[in-house]
Amino acid sequence: MMTDTEKTPSGQKPKPSVFTSRRQFIALGLATLGAAWAGTFVQSKLFPQPTAQEAKPVEFSLSELPVGGVKAITYAGAPAIVLRTPVGIRALSLVCTHMGCVVQWQAADNGFYCPCHSGRFDQFGDVTGGPPPVSLEQFPVTVDGDRVIVGETA
Ligand code: FES
Repeated sequence: MMTDTEKTPSGQKPKPSVFTSRRQFIALGLATLGAAWAGTFVQSKLFPQPTAQEAKPVEFSLSELPVGGVKAITYAGAPAIVLRTPVGIRALSLVCTHMGCVVQWQAADNGFYCPCHSGRFDQFGDVTGGPPPVSLEQFPVTVDGDRVIVGETA
């Protein structure tokens, strides 16, 4: 093996090994991934979020949600939205299924837009463009008299 102070047979100094820097690059990448995984693991243990099945239902008055309106809520510790159309009410997570950014409701487009990687979803939460792999999570909605209840009512 040649050191940096040795010269090649042609008398030139050898170039630094690309393999060594690739190895360092891969090691740094693996260390970064390990640190990110460890951080996520510790955060999930210190601040556990309820799943949609465990979440406490969110209730509000039907009068707060006129036909054609939307209402922002927090459900299962994450942002969500409730939409009321002439045919019904649905509740959707605002957490993008690609990498977890918060999507925005865009009434003019009648759909959702994710600013992180230009993901798009229709009014039902189904993917219409960009990298998201699956639809937005949908939560059960019950209307009981004047009460709208998002989540499992048991
Ligand atoms: S996080 Fe939404 S498109 Fe990437």
